[in-house]
Amino acid sequence: ARKIIIDTDPGQDDAVAILLALASPELDVLGITAVAGNVPLALTERNARIVCEIAGRPDVRVFAGCDRPIARRLVTAEHVHGKSGLDGIELFEPTMPLQPEHAVDFLIETLRREAPGTVTLCPLGPLTNIATAFTRAPDIVGRVAEIVLMGGAYFEVGNITPAAEFNIYVDPEAADIVFRAGVPLVVVPLDVTHKALTSRGWIERLRSMGTRVGHAVAGLTDFFERFDMAKYGSQGAPLHDACVIGYLLKPDLFTGRHINVMIETKGEFTTGMTVADWWRVTGREANAMFLGGIDRDGFYAILTERLARL
Ligand code: BDR
Ligand code: CA
Repeated sequence: ARKIIIDTDPGQDDAVAILLALASPELDVLGITAVAGNVPLALTERNARIVCEIAGRPDVRVFAGCDRPIARRLVTAEHVHGKSGLDGIELFEPTMPLQPEHAVDFLIETLRREAPGTVTLCPLGPLTNIATAFTRAPDIVGRVAEIVLMGGAYFEVGNITPAAEFNIYVDPEAADIVFRAGVPLVVVPLDVTHKALTSRGWIERLRSMGTRVGHAVAGLTDFFERFDMAKYGSQGAPLHDACVIGYLLKPDLFTGRHINVMIETKGEFTTGMTVADWWRVTGREANAMFLGGIDRDGFYAILTERLARL
């Protein structure tokens, strides 16, 4: 199985991503590292443990990482995810322990211990933990197999400012470090996730599965949908972060371009923008596979099939 570390700020869509990964035998989740993002760190690390317990996997190791961006104040998104970050289900106090080690130390030690080129990083929130690990231990950068992250936008532009997507906007300095690191990078931007909207029928199908996981995902998605329906008037909500795991499982469901992508860190109006050279008008070297399309039905087919296994 492919070894992955999920770096996350749950988040309803983060939760679905974690469940999809834990349900998939092709993936070996070495650990989950929590970061401040959608809600503060104390909630994201707790939510990550709650999700593992819902999946029946209290053995998964969860680490708490950075509680604020590298150079800025934390911006959160309770307006999307609710006060807990995981509104929509009845939350409980998890009994599985939080690992004592800091997430950044776990990232560094794991990448040093595992064979080079065998560990894939899956960031689903601001890139603070990953960038801090790369800065503190530059020797690990060349050992990462690949980074597949949710973040950024091109045609779909922003969801937190007109120009920026939330994960990149919260810690653009961290994103800048990661995008310049020279690691093989796959970017799942809003352009993809807004093509992967939930539907009423799908939510009801999950609910009628009669399992703890089906019930939880239906509840989380119900809550999450409210925001997007009000905002975009669209049917359904984008399960952003789950698309990252979908890509790991079935890359053929996605299309994109290998291009240069730079992060704006100094913009007056555009801080956190992923400046994606989609039309290749600069001579800058490609540093990312920037995805743009997804086979929605194919994605939901595997998502449903996998969630039913838990
Ligand atoms: C991203 O921001 C968060 O609110 C979601 O969990 C997702 O990772 C979408 O912009
Ligand atoms: Ca997230």
